[in-house]
Amino acid sequence: MNLNTLINVNKRKFDIKFKKLLKNKLEKSSLSNAMFYGSMNGGKRIRPFLVMESAKIAKISSNDAFIIASCIECIHSYSLIHDDLPSMDNDDYRRGKLSTHKKFNEATAILAGDALHDLAFELISGNLKNKNDISRLILINYLSLCIGHKGLALGQALDLEFENKKLSKIKILDMYSRKTGKLFEFSFSAPFILKDKSKKDIQFAKDYGMLFGLIFQVIDDLIDEIGTFKKIGKTPGKDIAQGKSTLLELIGEKQVTDFCKNEINNFTRKHKKKLNQNPILIKLLEFGMKRVL
Ligand code: IPE
Ligand code: IPE
Ligand code: MG
Ligand code: MG
Ligand code: MG
Repeated sequence: MNLNTLINVNKRKFDIKFKKLLKNKLEKSSLSNAMFYGSMNGGKRIRPFLVMESAKIAKISSNDAFIIASCIECIHSYSLIHDDLPSMDNDDYRRGKLSTHKKFNEATAILAGDALHDLAFELISGNLKNKNDISRLILINYLSLCIGHKGLALGQALDLEFENKKLSKIKILDMYSRKTGKLFEFSFSAPFILKDKSKKDIQFAKDYGMLFGLIFQVIDDLIDEIGTFKKIGKTPGKDIAQGKSTLLELIGEKQVTDFCKNEINNFTRKHKKKLNQNPILIKLLEFGMKRVL
């Protein structure tokens, strides 16, 4: 099976189980409807795929891999619902449909994002079967760090602050590593942390996830510029229209592709042995660079 097919098969399986989980967890309410809409509306489920690949290497149970993946999709969905709000990127469409605040209303969208964020912590603190209390606690603490004042939330704040400013490559990459990289870092390293792997192995997993995330954001910016609404399900051309500081804007398309290739080559050279043992990991990085969706 090629990688695209594998990712799609995993997405379909994940969606069925995730829908069931949400139905079991959420009581009927208008807030639940918005949470459901904002998290079950056609995401690619790339982060759950990373969790699944990492879970195979770290050898954690399929229940725990699914709970980690669900927790991450709750966080990811919350971040997108808030990202689309008028006070942030002001996007009317997401995944080919009205964004959550357009389908419901702004207050409901804010609260649905909040409650999805909280549901993520409910899942990771209450639904893992792994018996190692310490590694579960370390995992929850690490998630808080990845998405909070040093991670995703700061990255989103910087993204907004950086609008209509000329910034250095270092500053832009720092913002990317927080708004997008950290959640990918968490996705790939969480199974290693839960399984209490060696420091070295955990660091490898964190570095791999971060690199994947950086490339993912760089290419997301490229897709924003060259994609169509039909293909990407969100309004194209918004980054330029809103004066977003992107690597693409700073160095251009050719240099952006070279940047991704170089980063992948450096990482491959540094981690030859581990990557040879798991060749899908290189393929996955290349997929991240070539993706059109
Ligand atoms: C979009 O993420 C936001 C970024 C971090 C670039 P995805 O492209 O993974 O969004 P969905 O979940 O597939 O819609
Ligand atoms: C979003 O980056 C990153 C997060 C939601 C944390 P973008 O603003 O580029 O994502 P899209 O393009 O709206 O999906
Ligand atoms: Mg944004
Ligand atoms: Mg956006
Ligand atoms: Mg974007």
